[in-house]
Amino acid sequence: MIMLNLTRSAFLRSALLGLCTAGLLTACGGGGQDDNVWSVGTEPAFPPFESVGEGDELVGFDIDLMRAVAEKAGKTVEFQSLPFDGLIPALQGGSIDAAISGMTITEEREKTIDFSDPYFDAGLAIAVAEGTTDVTSLDDLEGKRIAVQIGTTGAEAAASVADAKVSTFDSAPLALQELANGNVDAVVNDAPVTLYAIATGNIPGITVVGELLTEENYGIALPQNSENLEAVNTGLAAIKADGTYDALYEKWFGTAPLAQ
Ligand code: ARG
Repeated sequence: MIMLNLTRSAFLRSALLGLCTAGLLTACGGGGQDDNVWSVGTEPAFPPFESVGEGDELVGFDIDLMRAVAEKAGKTVEFQSLPFDGLIPALQGGSIDAAISGMTITEEREKTIDFSDPYFDAGLAIAVAEGTTDVTSLDDLEGKRIAVQIGTTGAEAAASVADAKVSTFDSAPLALQELANGNVDAVVNDAPVTLYAIATGNIPGITVVGELLTEENYGIALPQNSENLEAVNTGLAAIKADGTYDALYEKWFGTAPLAQ
């Protein structure tokens, strides 16, 4: 009887291990289960960098870029959708190996996580309702209602505006929709994403005003002292050198990248 129990639990253990390897049990945790798979977190409502496609699969510039970088390192990628403000905690807790999410490299974030070399130049822009004439800078938003995505550099910029009423949303499209609905006066968000939402007609009746508020660089985020940092940077350099980066840029932005 005891023998049988032992055998059974040994069997269960190896069966569970098998499922982990097959990637069927999410409870196994992300990082480090399978050496050939990188578990990568993303907040997938940020087109054209990441969004959910027609068949529920993730699509976007970041998604393609991450897969291409991983391939150079002989890895495959398994994506995990997470809230944007949950990505850094997940990296710190070790449940993901990396995060790609249009994430800006900031000094503040570098205190708790590491970043790859920059892979995209972006910056914040102010969006307002079409026809708005009194807003061209952050100062003009004093005392006004601003919508932002939680945990973002846009949220941080909005927090610096005197007397502004800032409302936070789980995703950038939700913040932009709030503007389209007339419930706020402005959205502070990454320019490429706001411009894409306007260009695709996804969010009607809004426009971008003024100059970029910031110059920001996106990086792939990794846990501090991750053993994968070097492979990620080598992969990035390789896809820039062999034309893959330019092809992906063209695919998602319709133009060649500006000289970097
Ligand atoms: N670049 C901004 C930041 O790092 C916004 C990124 C939001 N990304 C996303 N997938 N929702 O704070």
